[in-house]
Amino acid sequence: MEKGKIDEILFSEQQISLRVRELAREIERDYEGGSPLLVGILKGAFVFMADLVRALEIEVKVDFLAIASYGMSTKTSGIVRILKDIDTDITGLHVIVVEDIIDTGLTLNYVLANLKARNPASLEVCALLNKREANKIDIPVKYEGFPIPDVFVVGYGLDFAEEFRNLPYIASIQPHR
Ligand code: IMP
Ligand code: MG
Repeated sequence: MEKGKIDEILFSEQQISLRVRELAREIERDYEGGSPLLVGILKGAFVFMADLVRALEIEVKVDFLAIASYGMSTKTSGIVRILKDIDTDITGLHVIVVEDIIDTGLTLNYVLANLKARNPASLEVCALLNKREANKIDIPVKYEGFPIPDVFVVGYGLDFAEEFRNLPYIASIQPHR
């Protein structure tokens, strides 16, 4: 496969860091004394999750759910495979799903339905990026980092064919150049 080319930086390291801390303040306000379980969706959310938990000044627990949705393509298939389930029994827990990006919403829709069936006390979504105009399903996102246009982005955990996850910023990419 041909490598993509970085196009334009959409959010700098500093902009992201500021927004992550703002999201942390929102979560702290809502979960005062609550001790939520943050469930990060691997692999994309690992960088966001790491920064978010360190910005939070309340007691939290963490777990991870590994899923595969795209394979090597940039288009969503709608087919979600759980590669690794969470270890925690979430019955009666306050759960926040931490996601890197919402595109069609199909992935998160599946994940939310799956987790909801396990009867958590509450279930909310914290997504760093949301391509609102590309949403095919309405996902209730309580904590949203940045709305973005329908462009393919990489960096800060997000990949194109497993590349660019380590970039400290978020950039758009032209996959077929
Ligand atoms: P959805 O099911 O269409 O909402 O896609 C969500 C998943 O696709 C995210 O968790 C990402 O892993 C991946 N994804 C969607 N858009 C992008 C993007 O612009 N860059 C990198 N990954 C993306
Ligand atoms: Mg993802």
